[in-house]
Amino acid sequence: MKRCALVTGGSRGIGAATAVKLAARGYDVALSYRTQRTAAEEVAAAIQRLGARALLLQADLADPDQARELVHKAAEGLGALHILVNNAGYVQRLPWDELSLEDWDRMLRVGLTAAFVCARYAVPYMREAGYGRIVNVSSLRALTGAAHGVHYASAKAGLLGLTKSLALALAPYGITVNAVCPGFVATDINREALETRGEEIRAQIPLGRVASPDEVASVIAFLCSEEAGYMTGATVSVNGGLRME
Ligand SMILES: NC(=O)c1ccc[n+]([C@@H]2O[C@H](COP(=O)([O-])OP(=O)(O)OC[C@H]3O[C@@H](n4cnc5c(N)ncnc54)[C@H](OP(=O)(O)O)[C@@H]3O)[C@@H](O)[C@H]2O)c1
Repeated sequence: MKRCALVTGGSRGIGAATAVKLAARGYDVALSYRTQRTAAEEVAAAIQRLGARALLLQADLADPDQARELVHKAAEGLGALHILVNNAGYVQRLPWDELSLEDWDRMLRVGLTAAFVCARYAVPYMREAGYGRIVNVSSLRALTGAAHGVHYASAKAGLLGLTKSLALALAPYGITVNAVCPGFVATDINREALETRGEEIRAQIPLGRVASPDEVASVIAFLCSEEAGYMTGATVSVNGGLRME
């Protein structure tokens, strides 16, 4: 049987690029979307053109019940689940003292709790399949903080703790868990920032440009591969040299 992957937030940006990249490498792919069904259908069509199966699933990952159901539908629809890419996310740029408790709570649910819930229900399928890879899409902001996205940076930093903790817990089963921290990537999430401050942003990046979604997807796909079998609990920066550990 072909290996099967679930990519959350696969309708656009990094998730869409990852879903297509995994299909190109021979995986069947379930991808979730929240609002952008048409865009997600285009991603599914691209996956099918590569000869892989695509399963399109709608879920609002702010709701843990929908996160759980998403995993079951992906595994049952594809017949197995070997790979989970926790990618879905959003930003909300507000001064920290203008954030409501609801803002904070929703960000933590989508950015952190959903990753835990998806992993929680995906791991039994991975153990059954005898192969497991989890990749959590964190952010440069997990490392630097963000004055205008305190909840975003906190959720992304929490994701690094989750990554390391799950890496320890799942190592006995050979399931690896890693995180990628993208810097600036040309996607809708920061379209406005790139339009208004693009020159200033590029000037700060040693490589002198923002990343394409495909460049982040390549790193995620590597972490999902057999070749990456000895990497677990790692935080992999993909930031053009903007911050070096
Ligand atoms: N772009 C960057 O510069 C950058 C940098 C660092 C980290 N990241 C991280 O990379 C990940 C992907 O970002 P991106 O740049 O590709 O963003 P994007 O183009 O805006 O795509 C975001 C994806 O997440 C989904 N999503 C958002 N809220 C959701 C929710 N409540 N429930 C379910 N799905 C939801 C969206 O679904 P719909 O489109 O269907 O609504 C979409 O598929 C995010 O976790 C982001 O924080 C991005």
